[in-house]
Amino acid sequence: MNNQDKIKQLIDLRVEAKLGGGEKRIEAQHAKSKLTARERIEMLLDEGSFEEYDMFVTHRCDNFGMEKTKFMGDGVVTGQGTIDGRIVYLYAQDFTVFGGSLSETYALKICKVMDMAMKVGAPIIGINDSGGARIQEGVTALAGYSEIFQRNILASGVVPQISAIFGPCAGGAVYSPALTDFIIMSKNTSYMFVTGPKVVKTVTGEVVTDEQLGGASVHGSKSGVSHFVAEDEKEGILLIRKLLSYLPQNNLEDPAPVHCTDPINRLEDSLNSIIPDNPNKPYDVKSVISSIVDNGEFFEVHRHYAQNIVVGYARFDGMSVGIVANQPNYLAGVLDINASRKAARFVRFCDAFNIPIITLVDVPGFLPGTTQEYGGIISHGAKLLYAYGEATVPKVTVILRKAYGGAYCVMASKHLRGDINYSWPTGEIAVMGPKGAIEVLRSKKIAAIEDEAERAAYLVQAEEEYKEKFANPYNAARYGYIDDVIEPRNTRFRIIRALQSLATKKVLNPPKKHSNLPL
Ligand code: HXC
Repeated sequence: MNNQDKIKQLIDLRVEAKLGGGEKRIEAQHAKSKLTARERIEMLLDEGSFEEYDMFVTHRCDNFGMEKTKFMGDGVVTGQGTIDGRIVYLYAQDFTVFGGSLSETYALKICKVMDMAMKVGAPIIGINDSGGARIQEGVTALAGYSEIFQRNILASGVVPQISAIFGPCAGGAVYSPALTDFIIMSKNTSYMFVTGPKVVKTVTGEVVTDEQLGGASVHGSKSGVSHFVAEDEKEGILLIRKLLSYLPQNNLEDPAPVHCTDPINRLEDSLNSIIPDNPNKPYDVKSVISSIVDNGEFFEVHRHYAQNIVVGYARFDGMSVGIVANQPNYLAGVLDINASRKAARFVRFCDAFNIPIITLVDVPGFLPGTTQEYGGIISHGAKLLYAYGEATVPKVTVILRKAYGGAYCVMASKHLRGDINYSWPTGEIAVMGPKGAIEVLRSKKIAAIEDEAERAAYLVQAEEEYKEKFANPYNAARYGYIDDVIEPRNTRFRIIRALQSLATKKVLNPPKKHSNLPL
């Protein structure tokens, strides 16, 4: 073979590798409204930036006649590229080769890009579409998964890890995405479960479809496993690009600032009247968020899950922040198990990656009842408390209305090292709401009043007295727990000034092997 032949051979091999499992299987993939691994990568990365690794890798299995069937690349496409000019490492499982199933060599390919991402401090993105462990390989496939899990664990808190699920993801395979920071699922074409419908039927008798058991809607709203639900793969890929724009490359860097075109001292008059006079009337906290952040742009995480708390990314004067806000529009903004877990994980991610946290508080307390207590609201609520108390990034809190009881303490209060704590004049900071407080404090007196009208009048008067004393921010401000009471329309400016002053904040937690948060 002369040199020209050798070059031709290389070109031919590349063409063959790029075909994955072949034309027929690519057609089958498209027929399911799914893109191929390479099409997904092309859509995700900046044009022409993909550098592929290990295109010539094939499996080493000789069980069940496997030695006769080899595909170059072995069912996963791996490499590096850029997104908005910043380097990322990635892998995309190729369903056209053995159903995207994972072999020993396939796992080695994934481990290689994960190791590279850690070496250079860049995000790692995994696109999942696979039948799980390659059945013909046996334990080497299981070992491969475990090697990936170990790397996910070590990369956690060092580089951002993002998983897209664009096809099947079942059995132990779900645990790699579960160990990453964000999961994005595409509607109708993806599912995740530990045991599939057939096993479920055999073991429990329950009859469910893939979609009912582990579809995108289920994980986006019921389990909270998925942080984003995309209408289709294209939207999912755009979500990944957008998400990365708010994040730093690794835990030693800050998020990249962007040029801000929104005036930092913009007054938002509508905020002066957004809180209803009736304290039991809800309003949409997302209107508050979009009024104060740069250009009204809020990138919400977990939009359909635990909607009583809102979390997501935005920018103030071009600086990336994480926002946590109680949502009075949903279950009165109460803290329950799911809301606590959702916000705790978000706060911890922000803290790990140097993203300041803005907390907007309007919370009536923790949700009472046996369902919550039996479900462990004590431990789950403690997660959020722990996350806020542990966080050392700049923390700016604004109390919009209610901040009652334990929930006042939890929501980035001064006592959990909140750096700047503001309240609107509509803030109500107390051990509990007026109604509950009067029932506890005056129960004997109330019981002693026989006349119904008289009792009602007494209750109104007692509640008024309580409100006069506690339904304001000034008690807390007198103790310095609130740094200032601010005019709502000026909130944007006050937050930006707080963030500017905190840009050089340095706080370290005591040295330890690791913390023991209440899991
Ligand atoms: C080897 C596999 C495979 C697997 C699919 N294929 N899964 N090959 N190992 N795990 C092959 C099929 O034989 C077929 O090959 C091709 O991929 C496409 O599969 P189809 O079944 O034709 O596709 P579809 O109808 O879309 O169904 C997809 C599927 C189904 C739902 C994923 O293939 C399936 O149920 N596969 C098995 C899933 C599974 O039980 N995996 C093990 C899970 S346990 P041909 O040559 O015909 O095109 C696990 C443990 C991990 O993963 C533990 C980690 C610690």
